[in-house]
Amino acid sequence: MLKKIAVSQMRLGMHLHALEGAWLDHPFWKTKFVLSDPADLERLRTSGVVECWIDTDKGLDIDAAADTAAPTAAPAAPAAATAPTAPDGLRSVPTRSLQDELVQAAQVCQKARGAVLTMFNEARLGKALDAEHCMPLVDDIARSVYRNPGALVSLARLKTADDYTYMHSVAVCALMVALGRQLGHDEAFCREAGLAGLLHDMGKAAMPLAILNKPGKLTDDEYAVMKTHPERGHEMLVEGRGAPPAALEVCLHHHERVDGTGYPHGLSGDAFSELARMGAVCDVYDAITSNRPYKAGWDPAISISRMASWQGHFDETVFAAFVKSLGIYPTGSLVRLQSQRLAVVVEQNPQALVSPTVKAFFSLRTQMPIPPQLIELAAAGCKDRIVDREDPKRWKFPHLDELWAGAEVLKR
Ligand code: C2E
Ligand code: SIN
Ligand code: SIN
Ligand code: FE
Repeated sequence: MLKKIAVSQMRLGMHLHALEGAWLDHPFWKTKFVLSDPADLERLRTSGVVECWIDTDKGLDIDAAADTAAPTAAPAAPAAATAPTAPDGLRSVPTRSLQDELVQAAQVCQKARGAVLTMFNEARLGKALDAEHCMPLVDDIARSVYRNPGALVSLARLKTADDYTYMHSVAVCALMVALGRQLGHDEAFCREAGLAGLLHDMGKAAMPLAILNKPGKLTDDEYAVMKTHPERGHEMLVEGRGAPPAALEVCLHHHERVDGTGYPHGLSGDAFSELARMGAVCDVYDAITSNRPYKAGWDPAISISRMASWQGHFDETVFAAFVKSLGIYPTGSLVRLQSQRLAVVVEQNPQALVSPTVKAFFSLRTQMPIPPQLIELAAAGCKDRIVDREDPKRWKFPHLDELWAGAEVLKR
């Protein structure tokens, strides 16, 4: 239901539908979304807009939100700040910096890789799938995401082309948890979204390996076979045990597009669930940022900006929340600074997505590497800023990932 309320009543977790009067001069205000960033709430309160519309079907209502009133000062723990309805079981999970979480995220990745590989192999042999067996793994992944949403997601992006199918499932699981949380959903929803992400491509276990692992572009006939994987996966989950409706839905509909041009059913807009629309975004992001036998992965920030330019593919609200959960310049992105240096993004600042922490390592003036310098772009007194994304393909820096992940973590 749409309700008009005073801006002073606006709280984190409410779904902002429209502002009365002029739009703010900021891209996020142009879409409808669940307000989850304290910085946005602050901006809204100081914008001069007096009233706004909220959609109570998609976010918190006035009363429901009363006792989760947003802090106006920037809270110390970013993950907690972006989750107004932090779920019970995971609420006690302490947040960590990305650097601190990477070591544990690497362990979760390694364990998850083995578990998902076994699951795919068993499915390929025709063994019935038991989705409940996946829950401990989903919980490990979800806890890492709650501690720091970027660590496991960024590490899982570094999969080798051979590992793609397995680590893609792990990455989409983590992305779904982070996105569910950003959209203001509770723990039960986020866990099921994670499970759905983990299982979304199970249908690939029914695809001929020669097509699945083809080191080149697919022919039309091969692509037609690949397009049966959502229905094949759905069948496998129905025939197996323990897959909740969320997993069935995401499996069947993660290749639908909001403009109706997707498959298998050509559903449009709200004819497929929010969960499936979340699946579509998470799936494509991890697919295009990963190295494949037939093409190198794209830079994370370039991927975000390309996805933003594709009209009709993604749900705008879901995509806006996705960008908020990962960043406009996700961790590991290559950026150009105003100071004529190249830098890698090493940590998000949820209060200021355009000002993450970066590590500058190359001078454009001298065209030479410089001693790596950590720069908190949002810090008071910091004069530098990001002027653009930079395509790593133009540079071929060999140790880009070491700069944000560290050599130790990458060795694992
Ligand atoms: P996937 O590789 O996991 O990709 C999932 C989705 O990400 C794709 O669904 C597509 O929407 C998006 N995506 C991936 N790479 C690109 C890209 O380079 N550009 C753009 N614009 N989007 C991309 P889609 O197209 O329905 O493909 C379904 C699956 O079919 C893929 O899953 C992959 O397993 C297979 N496939 C598609 N094209 C090729 C290909 O040229 N070669 C091979 N070997 N497999 C392919
Ligand atoms: C392409 O590289 O042409 C498309 C790859 C994909 O959709 O996976
Ligand atoms: C899309 O709309 O999802 C893909 C468009 C493109 O590949 O450029
Ligand atoms: Fe798929």
